[in-house]
Amino acid sequence: MQEISKTIHFPKYDTTAISEINDGIYRISGFANDFGITYNQFLIADRDPILIHTGPIGSYHLIEDRIKEVMPLEKLAYVAFLHFESDEWGGMEFLQAPKIRLVCSDLSSKLNLTGWYNVPVNHISFWDNETLKTGNKSLRFIMTPHVHHWDSMMIFEETTRSLFTSDLFIQPGDNHKAVISDDLSESMINLYRAVGIFASEQPVRKTTERLVKFNPSMVYPMHGSCLDSSVFPKYVEAIMNKDFAYTDMLLGQKLL
Ligand SMILES: [Fe+2]
Ligand SMILES: [Fe+2]
Repeated sequence: MQEISKTIHFPKYDTTAISEINDGIYRISGFANDFGITYNQFLIADRDPILIHTGPIGSYHLIEDRIKEVMPLEKLAYVAFLHFESDEWGGMEFLQAPKIRLVCSDLSSKLNLTGWYNVPVNHISFWDNETLKTGNKSLRFIMTPHVHHWDSMMIFEETTRSLFTSDLFIQPGDNHKAVISDDLSESMINLYRAVGIFASEQPVRKTTERLVKFNPSMVYPMHGSCLDSSVFPKYVEAIMNKDFAYTDMLLGQKLL
Protein backbone atom coordinates (compact mmCIF):
# COMPACT_ATOMS: atom_id res chain seq x y z
CA MET A 1 0.00 0.00 0.00
CA GLN A 2 1.23 3.46 -0.84
CA GLU A 3 2.56 5.46 2.06
CA ILE A 4 0.26 8.44 2.26
CA SER A 5 2.61 10.69 4.23
CA LYS A 6 5.03 10.71 1.28
CA THR A 7 2.45 11.79 -1.23
CA ILE A 8 0.46 14.37 0.71
CA HIS A 9 2.08 17.75 0.88
CA PHE A 10 0.28 20.46 2.79
CA PRO A 11 1.47 23.45 4.79
CA LYS A 12 2.69 22.69 8.29
CA TYR A 13 4.06 24.93 10.99
CA ASP A 14 5.34 24.32 14.50
CA THR A 15 4.28 27.49 16.25
CA THR A 16 1.63 30.14 15.98
CA ALA A 17 1.45 33.66 17.36
CA ILE A 18 -1.64 35.63 18.26
CA SER A 19 -2.06 39.41 18.16
CA GLU A 20 -5.09 41.60 18.74
CA ILE A 21 -5.34 43.83 15.70
CA ASN A 22 -8.44 45.85 16.49
CA ASP A 23 -11.12 45.71 19.22
CA GLY A 24 -11.58 41.95 19.69
CA ILE A 25 -10.24 40.98 16.26
CA TYR A 26 -7.24 38.67 16.51
CA ARG A 27 -4.74 37.38 13.98
CA ILE A 28 -3.39 33.86 14.60
CA SER A 29 -0.41 33.22 12.36
CA GLY A 30 2.08 30.44 11.60
CA PHE A 31 4.93 30.34 9.09
CA ALA A 32 5.14 27.29 6.80
CA ASN A 33 8.79 27.00 5.87
CA ASP A 34 8.19 24.70 2.88
CA PHE A 35 5.79 27.17 1.33
CA GLY A 36 7.57 30.38 2.37
CA ILE A 37 4.43 32.13 3.58
CA THR A 38 2.44 32.64 6.75
CA TYR A 39 -1.02 31.16 7.20
CA ASN A 40 -3.34 33.49 9.06
CA GLN A 41 -6.59 32.79 10.83
CA PHE A 42 -8.73 35.52 12.30
CA LEU A 43 -10.85 35.37 15.42
CA ILE A 44 -13.61 37.91 16.02
CA ALA A 45 -14.36 37.53 19.71
CA ASP A 46 -17.88 38.92 19.80
CA ARG A 47 -21.04 37.59 21.52
CA ASP A 48 -21.16 34.88 18.84
CA PRO A 49 -17.47 34.46 18.09
CA ILE A 50 -16.39 33.62 14.57
CA LEU A 51 -13.15 32.13 13.29
CA ILE A 52 -12.19 33.02 9.72
CA HIS A 53 -10.18 30.06 8.29
CA THR A 54 -9.14 27.03 10.36
CA GLY A 55 -5.75 26.33 8.80
CA PRO A 56 -5.03 22.89 7.30
CA ILE A 57 -5.37 19.69 9.34
CA GLY A 58 -1.70 19.60 10.30
CA SER A 59 -1.92 22.88 12.17
CA TYR A 60 -5.44 23.07 13.54
CA HIS A 61 -4.33 22.21 17.10
CA LEU A 62 -2.01 25.25 17.10
CA ILE A 63 -4.94 27.43 16.14
CA GLU A 64 -7.02 25.97 18.95
CA ASP A 65 -4.29 26.66 21.50
CA ARG A 66 -4.25 30.33 20.58
CA ILE A 67 -8.07 30.65 20.61
CA LYS A 68 -8.07 29.23 24.15
CA GLU A 69 -5.89 32.15 25.25
CA VAL A 70 -8.79 34.44 24.37
CA MET A 71 -11.87 32.35 25.25
CA PRO A 72 -13.04 28.76 25.71
CA LEU A 73 -13.05 26.97 22.38
CA GLU A 74 -16.61 25.73 22.96
CA LYS A 75 -17.88 29.31 22.70
CA LEU A 76 -17.09 29.50 18.99
CA ALA A 77 -20.33 29.97 17.10
CA TYR A 78 -19.09 30.12 13.51
CA VAL A 79 -16.16 29.23 11.32
CA ALA A 80 -16.03 30.88 7.93
CA PHE A 81 -14.10 29.84 4.87
CA LEU A 82 -13.72 32.23 1.97
CA HIS A 83 -13.12 29.66 -0.75
CA PHE A 84 -12.88 25.90 -0.92
CA GLU A 85 -9.26 24.98 -0.11
CA SER A 86 -7.74 22.97 2.70
CA ASP A 87 -5.78 25.86 4.21
CA GLU A 88 -9.08 27.71 4.51
CA TRP A 89 -11.01 25.10 6.45
CA GLY A 90 -9.14 21.77 6.50
CA GLY A 91 -9.12 21.84 10.31
CA MET A 92 -12.89 22.28 10.58
CA GLU A 93 -13.54 18.62 11.35
CA PHE A 94 -11.29 18.79 14.36
CA LEU A 95 -12.55 21.90 16.09
CA GLN A 96 -13.87 20.89 19.49
CA ALA A 97 -16.73 23.35 19.39
CA PRO A 98 -20.08 21.56 19.47
CA LYS A 99 -22.23 24.53 18.46
CA ILE A 100 -20.02 25.73 15.66
CA ARG A 101 -21.58 26.33 12.25
CA LEU A 102 -19.76 26.54 8.97
CA VAL A 103 -20.22 29.78 7.04
CA CYS A 104 -19.47 30.08 3.32
CA SER A 105 -20.62 31.68 0.10
CA ASP A 106 -23.73 30.44 -1.67
CA LEU A 107 -21.48 29.27 -4.48
CA SER A 108 -19.26 27.27 -2.12
CA SER A 109 -22.41 25.66 -0.77
CA LYS A 110 -23.91 24.82 -4.16
CA LEU A 111 -20.69 23.82 -5.92
CA ASN A 112 -18.52 22.28 -3.25
CA LEU A 113 -20.43 21.28 -0.14
CA THR A 114 -23.11 19.20 -1.78
CA GLY A 115 -22.79 15.83 -3.41
CA TRP A 116 -19.87 14.56 -1.35
CA TYR A 117 -19.60 11.89 1.27
CA ASN A 118 -18.53 13.11 4.73
CA VAL A 119 -18.54 16.83 3.98
CA PRO A 120 -20.49 18.83 6.60
CA VAL A 121 -23.87 19.88 5.28
CA ASN A 122 -24.82 21.82 8.41
CA HIS A 123 -23.68 25.16 7.14
CA ILE A 124 -25.08 28.60 6.37
CA SER A 125 -24.27 30.33 3.16
CA PHE A 126 -24.53 33.93 2.03
CA TRP A 127 -25.19 35.73 -1.24
CA ASP A 128 -23.56 39.01 -2.10
CA ASN A 129 -24.21 41.91 0.30
CA GLU A 130 -26.00 39.80 2.91
CA THR A 131 -25.01 40.42 6.53
CA LEU A 132 -24.57 38.45 9.75
CA LYS A 133 -24.73 40.12 13.17
CA THR A 134 -22.44 38.42 15.66
CA GLY A 135 -23.29 40.76 18.58
CA ASN A 136 -21.72 44.19 18.39
CA LYS A 137 -20.16 43.44 15.05
CA SER A 138 -21.73 43.07 11.66
CA LEU A 139 -20.23 41.04 8.82
CA ARG A 140 -21.04 41.88 5.24
CA PHE A 141 -20.36 39.16 2.68
CA ILE A 142 -18.89 40.20 -0.64
CA MET A 143 -18.96 37.73 -3.49
CA THR A 144 -15.71 37.95 -5.44
CA PRO A 145 -16.05 35.35 -8.21
CA HIS A 146 -12.87 34.28 -9.97
CA VAL A 147 -10.66 36.18 -7.59
CA HIS A 148 -8.74 32.94 -7.65
CA HIS A 149 -11.76 30.64 -7.30
CA TRP A 150 -15.30 30.62 -8.72
CA ASP A 151 -16.80 30.43 -5.21
CA SER A 152 -14.56 33.08 -3.60
CA MET A 153 -15.97 35.62 -1.19
CA MET A 154 -14.59 38.20 1.24
CA ILE A 155 -15.90 39.65 4.49
CA PHE A 156 -16.19 43.27 5.59
CA GLU A 157 -16.74 43.92 9.31
CA GLU A 158 -18.65 47.16 9.31
CA THR A 159 -18.12 48.62 12.79
CA THR A 160 -14.31 48.49 12.61
CA ARG A 161 -14.12 48.69 8.79
CA SER A 162 -12.03 45.51 8.72
CA LEU A 163 -11.68 43.82 5.34
CA PHE A 164 -10.84 40.10 5.17
CA THR A 165 -9.52 39.48 1.68
CA SER A 166 -8.35 35.88 1.75
CA ASP A 167 -5.67 35.47 -0.95
CA LEU A 168 -5.85 39.02 -2.27
CA PHE A 169 -3.14 41.48 -1.08
CA ILE A 170 -0.96 38.69 0.35
CA GLN A 171 2.78 38.97 0.88
CA PRO A 172 5.36 36.16 1.05
CA GLY A 173 7.92 35.64 3.83
CA ASP A 174 7.94 35.12 7.56
CA ASN A 175 6.04 38.22 8.56
CA HIS A 176 6.62 38.65 12.25
CA LYS A 177 4.83 41.95 12.30
CA ALA A 178 1.10 41.52 12.56
CA VAL A 179 0.47 44.91 10.93
CA ILE A 180 2.69 46.69 8.45
CA SER A 181 2.74 50.01 6.74
CA ASP A 182 5.49 48.83 4.37
CA ASP A 183 4.99 48.64 0.64
CA LEU A 184 5.60 44.98 -0.26
CA SER A 185 3.36 45.13 -3.30
CA GLU A 186 6.21 44.17 -5.66
CA SER A 187 6.71 40.94 -3.67
CA MET A 188 2.97 40.34 -3.84
CA ILE A 189 2.93 40.71 -7.64
CA ASN A 190 5.99 38.44 -8.01
CA LEU A 191 4.34 35.83 -5.81
CA TYR A 192 1.15 35.89 -7.91
CA ARG A 193 3.21 35.49 -11.09
CA ALA A 194 5.13 32.56 -9.63
CA VAL A 195 2.20 30.60 -8.21
CA GLY A 196 -0.40 31.33 -10.90
CA ILE A 197 -3.51 31.67 -8.73
CA PHE A 198 -5.35 34.17 -10.92
CA ALA A 199 -6.51 33.16 -14.40
CA SER A 200 -6.74 36.78 -15.49
CA GLU A 201 -6.46 40.28 -14.08
CA GLN A 202 -9.96 41.49 -15.00
CA PRO A 203 -12.08 39.97 -12.18
CA VAL A 204 -9.41 40.82 -9.62
CA ARG A 205 -9.34 44.45 -10.72
CA LYS A 206 -13.13 44.68 -10.79
CA THR A 207 -13.26 43.35 -7.21
CA THR A 208 -10.44 45.66 -6.11
CA GLU A 209 -12.34 48.71 -7.40
CA ARG A 210 -15.32 47.62 -5.35
CA LEU A 211 -13.24 46.94 -2.21
CA VAL A 212 -11.72 50.43 -2.30
CA LYS A 213 -15.22 51.89 -1.98
CA PHE A 214 -15.59 50.18 1.42
CA ASN A 215 -12.76 52.45 2.63
CA PRO A 216 -11.28 49.80 4.97
CA SER A 217 -9.27 50.93 8.00
CA MET A 218 -7.41 47.61 8.02
CA VAL A 219 -6.97 44.82 5.46
CA TYR A 220 -6.53 41.23 6.73
CA PRO A 221 -4.99 38.99 4.06
CA MET A 222 -4.69 35.27 4.70
CA HIS A 223 -0.93 35.28 4.07
CA GLY A 224 1.48 37.96 5.26
CA SER A 225 0.80 40.92 7.51
CA CYS A 226 -2.31 43.02 7.92
CA LEU A 227 -2.19 46.26 5.95
CA ASP A 228 -3.16 49.53 7.51
CA SER A 229 -5.01 52.13 5.50
CA SER A 230 -1.89 54.25 4.90
CA VAL A 231 -0.28 51.58 2.71
CA PHE A 232 -3.34 49.86 1.23
CA PRO A 233 -3.43 52.23 -1.80
CA LYS A 234 0.04 50.96 -2.84
CA TYR A 235 -1.26 47.40 -3.08
CA VAL A 236 -4.35 48.58 -4.94
CA GLU A 237 -2.18 50.51 -7.39
CA ALA A 238 -0.06 47.42 -8.07
CA ILE A 239 -3.12 45.26 -8.73
CA MET A 240 -4.64 47.87 -11.04
CA ASN A 241 -1.48 48.54 -13.05
CA LYS A 242 0.79 45.48 -13.10
CA ASP A 243 0.38 42.13 -14.84
CA PHE A 244 0.06 39.21 -12.47
CA ALA A 245 -2.19 36.63 -14.14
CA TYR A 246 -1.19 33.04 -14.86
CA THR A 247 1.47 32.58 -17.53
CA ASP A 248 2.50 28.90 -17.37
CA MET A 249 3.87 29.14 -13.82
CA LEU A 250 2.20 26.95 -11.20
CA LEU A 251 3.38 26.89 -7.59
CA GLY A 252 6.77 28.15 -8.70
CA GLN A 253 7.28 25.64 -11.54
CA LYS A 254 7.10 26.25 -15.27
CA LEU A 255 4.39 24.12 -16.84
CA LEU A 256 5.45 24.12 -20.49
FE1 LIG B 1 -6.57 30.06 -1.85
FE1 LIG C 1 -4.78 31.08 1.06
